[in-house]
Amino acid sequence: MAVTIINMPTRIYNGTGALEVLAEEGRRLGKKALIVTTGKDMENFGLLRKVTNRLEGTGVSASVFSAVTPNPKTSEIEAGVRAFLDEKCDFLVSLGGGSSIDAAKNISMCAANGASIHDFLPQGDKVGLEKRRAVPHIAIPTTAGTGSEATKTAVVSNERNRQKYGVRHDCIYPMVSIVDPELMLTVPKSVTVDTGIDVFFHAMEGYLSNKATRFSDMVALESMRLVREHLPRVYEDGSDLDSRATMAWASTLGGIALDNAICVGIHGLGQPAGGYVDAVHGKSLCAVYYSYMKYTWQSDIPRYAEVARILGGNDGAEREAELAAASADRLRAFIRPLGLEIRLRDLGIEESMIPAIAESVLNTTRRTLECCKMEIGYDDIVAIYKEAL
Ligand SMILES: [Fe+2]
Repeated sequence: MAVTIINMPTRIYNGTGALEVLAEEGRRLGKKALIVTTGKDMENFGLLRKVTNRLEGTGVSASVFSAVTPNPKTSEIEAGVRAFLDEKCDFLVSLGGGSSIDAAKNISMCAANGASIHDFLPQGDKVGLEKRRAVPHIAIPTTAGTGSEATKTAVVSNERNRQKYGVRHDCIYPMVSIVDPELMLTVPKSVTVDTGIDVFFHAMEGYLSNKATRFSDMVALESMRLVREHLPRVYEDGSDLDSRATMAWASTLGGIALDNAICVGIHGLGQPAGGYVDAVHGKSLCAVYYSYMKYTWQSDIPRYAEVARILGGNDGAEREAELAAASADRLRAFIRPLGLEIRLRDLGIEESMIPAIAESVLNTTRRTLECCKMEIGYDDIVAIYKEAL
């Protein structure tokens, strides 16, 4: 049997009450933390206070950098690095969704290397891969979504060319991640589904990837099953702590699947499209998955059929090929009641933009296309986007 690689270098605490470990974990990393977060929501919901109280309780002081926005921008990373250095911080704590965590990952690498984020982008000068390092980072997700707490990927939107790029390096794994579903109880319904469906895509794409392993399959299949059952529940009742906790667990599993098997073309095409018009990540994926799956299901009938089985449904499909062909429709039937039936036009994308976005795919997410079971080139990308308009 082939050798299986398991990437899981982050110490992850996942479960109700996990935030209690922050004091001890923070104290080990130094005297001063920079908390990286987004705007006022964290303050309004009292989450920032919960974090600072636990740090200050053990003598760790904290500064707050709250200028991160969805699809974090290169200028925000630069400002975060300045804040970290000016405040003479020892480590980072990210609090929020994937935007906060990814921003902190990029800040951690730029601050440690004395480099600009532009150095790490495709057109940048590059800092030698072997020399890269990062300052310690504790990630505290407040959504069940990106799984960023378990990955070495950090997306950033380059304001110079409107391209959204995923920086990947071993040094940007968070040192510690604390995933506490109690912090997710106040997440609004729209954010709950936008991020919750991202979990499903991480797991499904990891499962469909040609980099999938017996380990990533195990976590991807479990994550898909849990989202299938529990995302509708948290959509109906955001105060359902058991289902919030299960979604938090599924999110971490999805992140592990993504980190070990990478993604395929739903992220490969959805992320650049969303980056081009600054759209919400989950919605960008929902705009392209259907045409992508319809285009590719024949490339791996057993796995698309398994996805269809997990999603369930009564469309008369029984044979393997019928199930695989029905997988996109079954996912659409799952997504529709969650209010996530979206087309590219709903995100503000016009047909005239497709060539530029397709080019952006080749520049930023080509790696995901290399994980697809079929070859996907420029013409295929354009065809899938046109179908998704
Ligand atoms: Fe994602």
